[in-house]
Amino acid sequence: MVHTDAWWRDAVIYQVYPRSFADSDGDGMGDLPGITGRLPHLKELGVDAVWLSPFYPSPQHDAGYDVADYRGVDPLFGELGDADKLIAEAHGLGLKVIVDLVPNHTSNEHEWFRAALAAGPGSPERERYIFRDGTGGEPPNSWQSVFGGSAWERTPDGQWYLHLFDVSQPDLNWDNPEVRAEFLDILRFWLDRGVDGFRVDVAHGLVKEASLADWTQPSQILGGIDPAGPPPPMWDQEGVHEIYRSWRQVLDEYPGGRVLVAEAWVAPADRLARYVRPDEMHQAFNFPYLEAPWEPSALRAVIDESLEVNNTVGATTTWVLSNHDVVRHATRLGYPVGTPRMHGVGAEDPQPDTALGLRRARAATLLMLALPGSAYLYQGEELGLPEHTTMADEFREDPAWERSGHAERGRDGCRVPLPWEADAPSYGFGPTDSSWLPQPATWAEYALDRQQGVAGSTWELYRTALGLRREHGLGRGSVTWQDGSFAFRNGDLLVLTNFTAEPVELPAGARVLLSSEPLDGDGRVPADVTVWAHL
Ligand code: GLC
Repeated sequence: MVHTDAWWRDAVIYQVYPRSFADSDGDGMGDLPGITGRLPHLKELGVDAVWLSPFYPSPQHDAGYDVADYRGVDPLFGELGDADKLIAEAHGLGLKVIVDLVPNHTSNEHEWFRAALAAGPGSPERERYIFRDGTGGEPPNSWQSVFGGSAWERTPDGQWYLHLFDVSQPDLNWDNPEVRAEFLDILRFWLDRGVDGFRVDVAHGLVKEASLADWTQPSQILGGIDPAGPPPPMWDQEGVHEIYRSWRQVLDEYPGGRVLVAEAWVAPADRLARYVRPDEMHQAFNFPYLEAPWEPSALRAVIDESLEVNNTVGATTTWVLSNHDVVRHATRLGYPVGTPRMHGVGAEDPQPDTALGLRRARAATLLMLALPGSAYLYQGEELGLPEHTTMADEFREDPAWERSGHAERGRDGCRVPLPWEADAPSYGFGPTDSSWLPQPATWAEYALDRQQGVAGSTWELYRTALGLRREHGLGRGSVTWQDGSFAFRNGDLLVLTNFTAEPVELPAGARVLLSSEPLDGDGRVPADVTVWAHL
């Protein structure tokens, strides 16, 4: 059923990365009470919902995306009661709560995987995962892990198991009815606790082509799929859709409009739209938008295509610029247009133009928040936070760093604990100076308390934009392109971004409501600036 008045259709959803949001007990690791204590901040910012990255019991080999128990809270982050409190407080403030669900793989410390290793080849316990015999000491096929190296690991008895990600993340066998039943039960567990939805990790990976045919191209989760070529045997298989249809039925039993959001790195756009057909998920992250260069024709094309294909299935379009897996957009946009996708940045790599990056990031955000549909924000972007691009390698925790043989710096640079107070230890992340990843020495200037109430700060820009977006119903509006510059109308607003080096005139009579940087002395829009104007 297409819900045209559902809350999520125009929601702005803020991603909290629990390790790095707020630390209540001073151990250097963010936690659930820390998040709960800071929820009023998100209310003030003006978002509609929070999505929490995993906080479940986990050995933390992939920052919690290696789940050992889907029905609990890791002691690092608190206990189950803290999750209940967080949900209740958020609801009290009028914020929805979305949790992360990781169905493609478990941790190797999950009781199922321990049992599988102990039970040996041919056992029903092994049938919950993808175990195979190799040939002549070689793995069963040529698949590569997203994080680098073979996607197969040999067990002491000689069998191999598949792990598309880290060796500590064995892939589940979704052909096994027991696996399906277990996840329906996990959905109910969290729905019963009151969560408003799930962000579904690696949603395009659950079903593998039955023959496990060799695949010689890299198994990159993104950027590795040639839309014109044959579909890779590990991604975007037809069988995943049946799973989401069964999940949707469970969600529809609950009141209040519970949502499923797909993390599916799938191209082209019409393949992605298949995940949000009326009886499947509600939303899918728009990664083509995130990956579009700072270039007007590319952006216009991806905006048009996104709106068009989502329309064909009656789904709302989403927009996103940053998350915990990519270089923050304030840094990405500080590199020359056309720079290929970066897998992290280290001190020896070319460094971004920080001022240009922030200027373009503010313009990009203002453009994004004017688009109809739902938008996802990643914690810290409201502070204009850049990537930590000079982190010493010894601190890196992302498994991609080791598994890629240090070819990829990995994702730690976008996961650094947030600065709340300029002059406090750990910039107010917690009560001590401890933080699980080092914070750059220059971060005082980004701290929330340096930006609140300061006209023109990035925090105030976001807050004002979110208020106006709501007031003008932009999330429920539509895009009508205007001739000339990169400009469109959405309802009673004109949205214009200047991608050229020269200042651009606004149409006569336009009254500026918000601008990502001040206009020039003649009231023109300078380079790399977005303006919202009343016409
Ligand atoms: C998703 C997550 C990422 C994680 C991977 C494996 O892409 O966003 O952080 O490493 O899945 O679970």
